[in-house]
Amino acid sequence: MKFESMEDLFLGQVQDLYDAEQRLVKALPEMADAADSPQLRAAFEGHLAETRGHVQRLERIFIQLGKDPKGTTCEAMKGLIKEGDSVVSDMDQSPLRDAGLIAAANRVEHYEIAAYGSARTFAQTLGMTAAASLLEETLQEEKEADQKLTRLAEGMINNEALRMGASQAHTQAR
Ligand SMILES: [Fe+2]
Ligand SMILES: [Fe+2]
Repeated sequence: MKFESMEDLFLGQVQDLYDAEQRLVKALPEMADAADSPQLRAAFEGHLAETRGHVQRLERIFIQLGKDPKGTTCEAMKGLIKEGDSVVSDMDQSPLRDAGLIAAANRVEHYEIAAYGSARTFAQTLGMTAAASLLEETLQEEKEADQKLTRLAEGMINNEALRMGASQAHTQAR
């Protein structure tokens, strides 16, 4: 499709996000399963429920645009999820892997924050106030998810991961 107007560009953004969110609906249960900390697992599960809502909000925007809901491959999200998969395969279930999972998930949230921020601004520019407020609602949930992950990392998981490394180094030294 050749983009010729702001409407086309906006639709393109929504299609990209639709694909990204659907990929996350599949990836988040795997990240929850891979988590060692019950709090991290709960955070992923909670954000999975929100993410299903993000898909539905995008579907409402497709309707407002008079288009069928259809995604276009989000190469960035594919890559970010692949990085999360390597965290799972490179480490055993542990606080160390949790720290890696959070680092991967923070990258996902930052991508979404950037994408929803742009899409919301496009919607405002086009005078699509209903779409703009749906996108703003999701944007706020992405920001909260990002902050929650950061708090988990700062609160416990990174320290435990550090202790793990220290005890391994100690064992090796003996
Ligand atoms: Fe999302
Ligand atoms: Fe998210």
